Amino acid sequence: MNQQELESALANLNLGAIRYFDSIGSTNDEALAWAKKGAKDLSLVVADEQTMGRGRLDRPWLTPPQTALAFSLILRPTFAEKPLLSRTVGLAALAISDVLQTLGLDAQIKWPNDILLNGRKAAGILIEAAWLEDEVQSIVIGVGVNVAKGSVPATNILNFPAISLEHMLGYAPDRNVLLHAILANIIALRPHMGTDSFLAAWEKKLAYYGRQVRVELGGEKAVAGKVIGLESDGSLKIRDDNGKIIPVRFGDVRLRLFT
Ligand code: ATP
Ligand code: BTN
Repeated sequence: MNQQELESALANLNLGAIRYFDSIGSTNDEALAWAKKGAKDLSLVVADEQTMGRGRLDRPWLTPPQTALAFSLILRPTFAEKPLLSRTVGLAALAISDVLQTLGLDAQIKWPNDILLNGRKAAGILIEAAWLEDEVQSIVIGVGVNVAKGSVPATNILNFPAISLEHMLGYAPDRNVLLHAILANIIALRPHMGTDSFLAAWEKKLAYYGRQVRVELGGEKAVAGKVIGLESDGSLKIRDDNGKIIPVRFGDVRLRLFT
């Protein structure tokens, strides 16, 4: 991977601008700083290695060199897109899972932000916003994909099993080709984010759909119930044993199959 290779691989996408790093702390940090300085819509940060990659709530996301895809795409939402921003994680998740499907893989979305293959985490999404006073000015879509086997962290640091595309396919797909396909899908799906069919496609890909799950709500709290779909804002909808429908909002939540 290098700047020139990326520029030519992504040339037909009409991106804002591209910043490539052999090694960086976190592409999301770079993208947020760039967004605050006025990065254009569809500007992109890509790194071969991250030394301080982040998941939700500052949990570490490991990106060893030459093995993974790590990028952050900056969107400058239009006025019409602003009410739909809570669906952005679905936009990224659907874009990634559709690409994996074209590779013959059955990807599922572990709400809210993980992509599973064979029940294991193959990719993660981190959505962050840059604010201007009390208005969202830019949204950063951070994506990490475990491409080659070497990207999968040692099991002792994981609280959920992980896997790579190479494990599943027997080969590691070209990272530039993968990146192009994911970005092209994001760009193509973006105008449909507000539609019912977008929400339906997102629901269809949910891991544990119809299954009994436990949702850990941070601290000691947890709720149990069956996954029955998504609310319009992308919250997870579960039904508890008394038939009560509980919306699970984005935040400090962890989803596990009920065992
Ligand atoms: P869950 O456990 O339900 O996936 P979480 O909130 O604990 O949710 P996230 O914030 O989604 O986890 O992701 C961060 C976690 O992902 C880290 O705590 C680490 O265990 C794991 N992780 C870090 N790097 C990778 C990687 N390259 N592939 C898969 N998992 C990773
Ligand atoms: C998660 O599962 O919690 C989300 C992981 C998101 C990782 C990506 S890698 C590119 C971007 N930069 C980061 O620091 N995080 C995201």
